[in-house]
Amino acid sequence: MRHTHPATDCHPRQRPHTILLSLHEGPVKRIKAIYPGSFDPPTNGHLDLIERGGKIFDELVVAILRNPEKDPLFSVADRRKMLEAMTAGFDNVSVDTFEGLTVDYALKVQAKAILRGIRAISDYEFELQMALMNRKLQPGLETVFMMPAEKYSYLSSRLVREVARLGGSIERLVPELVEQKLHEKMDVAHKFANGEQITGKTPSEGKSKSRKKKV
Ligand code: PNS
Repeated sequence: MRHTHPATDCHPRQRPHTILLSLHEGPVKRIKAIYPGSFDPPTNGHLDLIERGGKIFDELVVAILRNPEKDPLFSVADRRKMLEAMTAGFDNVSVDTFEGLTVDYALKVQAKAILRGIRAISDYEFELQMALMNRKLQPGLETVFMMPAEKYSYLSSRLVREVARLGGSIERLVPELVEQKLHEKMDVAHKFANGEQITGKTPSEGKSKSRKKKV
């Protein structure tokens, strides 16, 4: 007679290790992490980190800080929409917003870890300070650092905003959707002001007929 295990319907010697572990050591732990940040705007560097984080954590929540003291380029709602579109292909990644301490939010959503990206040594000092402060506030929470792909090691939201504002190309630095939104944001008056500086034209010379029509 063939002996099979009721839970797995296979012979005990054929049972996969994961199931053996769960039977002998209780339920397998699911690890949830949060990836907090400003994401103003989200970049391909953020996306790279989300993809990496999604592979090692069972659940990853991209958590946008709602900071009333900052004057962001994109509203929280816009950033949420962009991040939701960017992460739509990842089953275990969700997007949320929070206010106040990151550790309090992590506890609220029962996350065990905070994911942060480190691009270069220059990031390390501040990130270490933040991780240690978070550990002081909430010793049970771990901060996990991951490195984005080298091609994004110089990339930051601040630089993307600046390059876009000054009319430079941000192609391949942000997803197409974000690029489009950034172009929409960059108001025509800023472009005029910048054009005047580059060409050395006076404000009146800079306002050509064709430009006036576009306003
Ligand atoms: O994308 P950013 O701007 O580098 O993200 C910084 C962020 C949001 C992770 C950090 O400012 C933060 O955690 N703010 C929430 C307030 C808080 O918990 N402060 C204490 C951190 S030690």
